[in-house]
Amino acid sequence: MRIAIIGAGTVGSALARGLKGKGHSVTLGVRDPSSPKALALAGQAEAGLALPAEAAAASDIVILALPWSGAEEAVKALGDLSGKIVVDCTNPLAMVDGELVLTMGHATSGGETVAGWLPGAKVVKTLNTVGAEMMEDNAALAHRPVMFMAGDDAAAKAKVADLLSDLGFAPLDAGDITKSRLLEPFGLVWINQALFRGKGRNWAFAAVEAAR
Ligand SMILES: NC(=O)c1ccc[n+]([C@@H]2O[C@H](COP(=O)([O-])OP(=O)(O)OC[C@H]3O[C@@H](n4cnc5c(N)ncnc54)[C@H](OP(=O)(O)O)[C@@H]3O)[C@@H](O)[C@H]2O)c1
Repeated sequence: MRIAIIGAGTVGSALARGLKGKGHSVTLGVRDPSSPKALALAGQAEAGLALPAEAAAASDIVILALPWSGAEEAVKALGDLSGKIVVDCTNPLAMVDGELVLTMGHATSGGETVAGWLPGAKVVKTLNTVGAEMMEDNAALAHRPVMFMAGDDAAAKAKVADLLSDLGFAPLDAGDITKSRLLEPFGLVWINQALFRGKGRNWAFAAVEAAR
């Protein structure tokens, strides 16, 4: 698949490295493709570099790895993505009174908001419930980590499931895009343990089945 990753920060660069060698053509969509930082990241991941809208236009799957605070402007600047699969791994977080909180959740979600910014795109919410390190390499975990997906298009979710499998996850369909309202607080469960309760970042959720 031709994959654009918009945002080459912690998540974008981890996903680019994680997808390296999996047979995909990855392009990082960055604001300054000639910056030494972008060139170094692209070199490590054997990925291409382009401006965000150019990267998105040339790809079948567009992964959003953007901070929520700048997401609306950045996503709307990508242009018309109708027909494309868009993987939303953002979490709609903000600091409020010194605490990291979700800015929405009961009546809507980040996933639904992103879908509203991109009419005609097939938005799939996923990869928001684990740290970037586990996206790059989770082979040492005792169980295969689970990764939920929420989206309205079954064919798009099937392709995203293949991508998640390539990254070492067991994909699990959570339902339509409104189920982002479940997945985003679940992301905060991981963040709370990892960052605020001392568990660290070297773990992921697993769905463990009975043997019979
Ligand atoms: N970090 C994690 O472990 C983790 C795990 C799961 C989900 N998430 C979610 O994933 C998202 C990204 O997190 P992150 O930790 O990767 O953030 P980050 O390290 O701050 O990286 C964000 C990247 O987005 C880029 N960016 C901002 N505006 C842009 C624009 N208009 N066009 C192109 N690129 C733009 C920034 O580029 P510049 O360098 O040019 O500013 C930066 O490289 C967040 O919504 C976060 O909640 C994070």
